[in-house]
Amino acid sequence: MRQPLVAGNWKMNGSQSSIAELMDGLKAGLSGVSGVDVAVCPSAVYLDRVGSMLNGSSINLGAQTVSEYESGAYTGENSVAMLKELDCRYVIVGHSERRSLFGETDAQVVAKYQAVRDAGLTPILCVGETLEEREQGRAQEVIASQVGAVLDALGADALNEAVVAYEPVWAIGTGKTATPDQAQEVHAQIRAQVAQSDAVIAEQLLILYGGSVNAGNAETLFSMADIDGGLVGGASLKVEDFVTICRAAT
Ligand code: G3P
Repeated sequence: MRQPLVAGNWKMNGSQSSIAELMDGLKAGLSGVSGVDVAVCPSAVYLDRVGSMLNGSSINLGAQTVSEYESGAYTGENSVAMLKELDCRYVIVGHSERRSLFGETDAQVVAKYQAVRDAGLTPILCVGETLEEREQGRAQEVIASQVGAVLDALGADALNEAVVAYEPVWAIGTGKTATPDQAQEVHAQIRAQVAQSDAVIAEQLLILYGGSVNAGNAETLFSMADIDGGLVGGASLKVEDFVTICRAAT
């Protein structure tokens, strides 16, 4: 059985005081909750601070992105070694906002993914189609090619104990959620694609859904056979909502 994961992607939100309040609430709200792994992914600026706040709790720390380079003259970037030193367990790789706003290519996503794996951290590989691509009937092809970029370059082993997040771009921050059936169809497709290379790895692979997950829709989404939890944006900034979403995955 796959243990579900719910990860909160805080994106570029929060302040020192709002984060302290959020963390206090999450630690209290999630204490004693079992059967789900939980992670929070603050801005890199707050990783150290949030990491200290997580001491003694079962909540894990994740980063929103990472440099594909080891070290050196890369102004503004953070290396995977730095994230590891701060006890990050997860790193989101290839989020659609990174792909569309910052021009990250599949090749870069693969390089970042590999850097994360090499350091022994767990990548959360984001894939998903735009509205235009869905309307053109190309969703399946786009997602297969994003997953294929990692599979072809690094092999199925690279997906062993990794996490994929299906985030339809049209559902991110829009309040429009994929229906459980729509999401399930894509999740099953991703698992089948990985199974073509390695059935055992595919069976163990965590596939999260992301895109306007909220306290009201989480349970139905997470009840689908191939949906193993969520990657949550907006609702992860609200204590009650995020706690409800985490509980819905148990
Ligand atoms: O990575 C999480 C994400 O992009 C979904 O954001 O705000 O639609 O939950 P949101």
